[in-house]
Amino acid sequence: MDLRRAGGLCLWTWLATCLLDLVLAQIRYSIPEELEHGAFVGNIAEDLGLDVDRLTARRFRIVSGARRQYLEVNLENGVLFVNERIDREELCEQNPSCSFHLQVVVENPLELYRVEVEILDVNDNSPSFPWSEFNLDISESAVPGSRFPLESAQDADVGENSVSSYLLSVNGHFVIDVQTRSDGSKFAELILETPLDRERQKLHQMVLTAVDGGSPERSGTTQVNVTVLDANDNAPVFDQSFYRVRLPENAPKGTVVIRLNASDLDEGPNGDITYSFSGHAPVKVRELFAVDSRTGEIKVKGLVDYEKARMHEIYVQAKDKGPSGVAVHCKVLVSVLDVNDNLPEVILTSVSTPVQEDAPPGTVIAVISVMDLDSGENGNVDCEIPHHVPFQLHSSFRNYYTLVTCDFLDRETVPEYNVTLTARDMGTPPLFTRKTIAVQVSDVNDNAPRFKQPSYTVYLMENNAPGAALCSLSAHDTDSDQNAFLSYSILDGSIQGMPVSTYVSINSDNGNVYALRSFDHEQLRNFQIVVQARDAGFPPMASNVTVSVFVLDQNDNVPIVVSPAPQNGSAAAETVPRSVDAGYLVTKITALDADSGQNSRLFYQVLQASDPTLFSVALYTGEIRTVRRLTEKDAARQALVVLVKDNGQPSLTATASIILSLVDSAPELAPDLGDPAFGPEDSASLTLYLIVSLEGTKKSNLDIQIAPGKYCYKLCLTPESSKSDFMFLKPYSPSASTVRNNTKRVTAQPARGVRSGAWRITGPLPPMR
Ligand SMILES: *[C@@H]1O[C@H](CO)[C@@H](O)[C@H](O)[C@H]1NC(C)=O
Ligand SMILES: *[C@@H]1O[C@H](CO)[C@@H](O)[C@H](O)[C@H]1NC(C)=O
Ligand SMILES: *[C@@H]1O[C@H](CO)[C@@H](O)[C@H](O)[C@H]1NC(C)=O
Ligand SMILES: *[C@@H]1O[C@H](CO)[C@@H](O)[C@H](O)[C@H]1NC(C)=O
Ligand SMILES: *[C@@H]1O[C@H](CO)[C@@H](O)[C@H](O)[C@H]1NC(C)=O
Ligand SMILES: *[C@@H]1O[C@H](CO)[C@@H](O)[C@H](O)[C@H]1NC(C)=O
Repeated sequence: MDLRRAGGLCLWTWLATCLLDLVLAQIRYSIPEELEHGAFVGNIAEDLGLDVDRLTARRFRIVSGARRQYLEVNLENGVLFVNERIDREELCEQNPSCSFHLQVVVENPLELYRVEVEILDVNDNSPSFPWSEFNLDISESAVPGSRFPLESAQDADVGENSVSSYLLSVNGHFVIDVQTRSDGSKFAELILETPLDRERQKLHQMVLTAVDGGSPERSGTTQVNVTVLDANDNAPVFDQSFYRVRLPENAPKGTVVIRLNASDLDEGPNGDITYSFSGHAPVKVRELFAVDSRTGEIKVKGLVDYEKARMHEIYVQAKDKGPSGVAVHCKVLVSVLDVNDNLPEVILTSVSTPVQEDAPPGTVIAVISVMDLDSGENGNVDCEIPHHVPFQLHSSFRNYYTLVTCDFLDRETVPEYNVTLTARDMGTPPLFTRKTIAVQVSDVNDNAPRFKQPSYTVYLMENNAPGAALCSLSAHDTDSDQNAFLSYSILDGSIQGMPVSTYVSINSDNGNVYALRSFDHEQLRNFQIVVQARDAGFPPMASNVTVSVFVLDQNDNVPIVVSPAPQNGSAAAETVPRSVDAGYLVTKITALDADSGQNSRLFYQVLQASDPTLFSVALYTGEIRTVRRLTEKDAARQALVVLVKDNGQPSLTATASIILSLVDSAPELAPDLGDPAFGPEDSASLTLYLIVSLEGTKKSNLDIQIAPGKYCYKLCLTPESSKSDFMFLKPYSPSASTVRNNTKRVTAQPARGVRSGAWRITGPLPPMR
C-alpha cells in the first residue's frame, strides 16, 4: 500500500478558547482516506508539547467523537496512527469537506486538547450509472438537432474526483452535449446529428462513458440502445417488377400460379401489405385468376385454356396499410403450357357413296381432313383405318386424306362397309377420335338368276284336266332391285311336232307351270321343256333350266283279246281231239292292255264253262288245258268264257268266248315248253319274264340279247330310271301283224316305285295252232 506520511500536512492550530480553560489548544491533521492500520498520522505528543516520557504517567488518552476508533496513539512515542481504515465516503458521504474530532485528555494536571482530523478524498470511486443499459426510443422521423436527455452518472467521490465529463462511443448519428447543473454536477444530452432510418438500422447501440476528474481518472459506462421507431416512409417493393411463370392449361381451380412477395421495410401496419389486381387488370384476367390479398398468392379461378389464350398478363398491386400508403405494381406474365386436352377432329369433306360394285381400285370414296386444336405433338394427328377392308387411306398432304378403294367390291358379298377411321394425336397420353364412314356398295347386274335345282322332274298323272298346275319353278338372283326382278318364260321348242306353247304355259311372274291339255300316257310318256328366268337388269341376264315331265299311267285301257281271234265277232272256235290226255294245251288266250305296268298285267280266269271240270285257264299265261281225259260222254261242243282282267285299280276286264269242238281225229302233237324239240323259231310264242337287276347304271340304253339272238329288246332308260324305276318293256308295235319278225324293238318306260325289278318282255304270241 502506498502510504503517505501525513506529518507534513499537520497544522498546528492554536485556538484560544474562552469557553473552557481546560481546552488548551486545538490541532488539525489532514490525512487521506483509506490508510492502512498503523499508518502515521502525526506525533501528537510533540505537537501538543507534552513530555513523551510522562504520557503514561499523565494517563494520556484520546476520546474519539466518531463511532469508530479510527486513530490510536502509541504511548511510547506519542505517535498518532491509523487504527482502522477510514472511508471518507462512508464517513461523510457526499460532503465535500470531511473531518472528525478527537479529544485528548491528560491528567496531572488535567488538560483537554481538541484534535481535528480532516479526511482527504482519494479518488477511489468510479463514476457509475444507475442502469447498465439505457433504452431510448426515437422515431425515425425525428429531425436532426433533437435532444434526448440521458441518465447522469454518479460518483461517490467528490470534487475533482467526481464526474467531470461524458463521452459517447463513435456512431453515425448521435453526439452528446455535457451540461452542468447549478450544483456543479454534470449531465449529458443526446443530440441527433444525422437523420435516422429504421429500415436501415433499427437499433443503435452506443456506450456512454462518464469520467471523473481524479488522478488517475476513473470512469463508468452504460449501454445506450436507441430503438428507431418506424414511420410509414417506405412503400412496398416487389422483389421483381416482372415475373414470368408457366402454367399448364386446365390447371385445377386453386392452383397457385405464383406467390408474389412484396416487402415493406416499414413495420406494423406500415409494413402490412395487401395485394390486389391493379386497376387496369383486364376483366378476362380477373375471371381466370384470383389474388389473395393477404398472402400475395395468385391462384387459378377459372378455366385456363391454352387454345383460347397462350399468355396472360396479370397486373398486381401491393399496398401497405399505413397512413397514406402508396401502391406499387408488378406484372406477372403467365405462359400457358399446352396439355393434350383436345381430341382430334375428323371432317369428312366429301363422301361419294354408294360406290358401284364394279368401281375400279383407286376410286375415291371420301376426302377427309383432320385437325387438333392442341399444338406441337399434341396436335400432330395420324389417321388409320383397319386393314381388312378393301380401302386404303392416302395422305395427300398433311392432315388431308383420301379414302380410296384398293380392291374390287362385290355388293353380293358385302353390301356395306363401315370403315372406322381412327385419328390419333401424338400427345402423352394420346387422344383419338373414331369416325365411321358408311360406304354403301351399289348393285351392278353381274349375277344371273339361279334356279333352285339344276333340273326339274315332274310326274303328272295322265288324263289331267287342262290347266292343271304342273310345277312351280323358282329362281333367285343375288343382285338387287331391277337386277333381281325375274320373269319366267318357256323357250320355244316342239313336242311331237307341235310347239311347246300348245302343251304348257308358265306364269311369268311366279314361275308356275300349267298343262294346257290333257295328256295321254299312251300317247306321250315324257317330254322336256326349257324354262328361262331373266332379270330386268341392263343388260339383262338369264339362265335356263330343263324340266322333264313324265306322264304317268292310269288304268284307262281295257284289255284287248287278240287271240284266238273271234271267228265272227262272237266267239273263237277251237277243236280238241277226244284222245288227248289231261293237260293238253288246247289254246292260249293272248290279250293286250295298252296301259303300262300293273295296269297292263293281265290275269285269266274261267268265267263260264259248259263243263267246269273239263278245261282250266292258267292264271298268268292264259293257256287253256284239258283237266282230264275226254270221254265219249262229254258233249262235242263246249263253250268257255274266259275273263281277262288287268291289275289296275280298279281293274278293267274283257272276256273271250271260245267254242271248243271235241273231235275224234288224232291230234297233231303240239310242242311243249321245255321240250328239247322246241326250236328257236318257236321262241316267238313265249312270254318271257326277264328279271333284270340294275344297280347304279347310268346307261340310257340297254340292249338285252335273248339267246340265241333272235329277240333284241332295247331298253330305253332315262338316267333316273336307275334309281327309281321298274321298267316295263313292250314291243314297239303291239300289233299282232308285226309278230313275224325275229328282231323286236322294245321301248322300256319307267314306272314308279321299284328300284330293281322285273320287266315283263312281252312278245306277241303266235296264233294257236
Ligand atoms: C442493448 O444493447 C446490448 C448490447 O448489444 C444488448 O445486449 C441489449 O440486449 C440491448 N437491449 C435492447 C433492449 O435491445
Ligand atoms: C419474400 O422476400 C423476402 C426478401 O427477399 C424473403 O426474405 C422472404 O422469405 C420472402 N418470402 C416468401 C414467402 O417468399
Ligand atoms: C354399319 O353401321 C350401321 C350403323 O351403326 C349399322 O346399322 C350397320 O349394320 C353397320 N353395317 C355393317 C356392315 O357393320
Ligand atoms: C338358254 O337357251 C337358249 C336356247 O337354247 C340359248 O340361246 C341361251 O344361250 C341359253 N341361255 C343360257 C344362259 O344357257
Ligand atoms: C259270220 O257271221 C256272218 C254274219 O254275222 C255270217 O254271214 C257268216 O257266215 C259267218 N261265218 C262263219 C264262218 O261262221
Ligand atoms: C323285221 O322288221 C323290221 C322292222 O319292222 C324289218 O326292218 C326287218 O327287215 C324285218 N325282218 C324280217 C326277217 O322280216
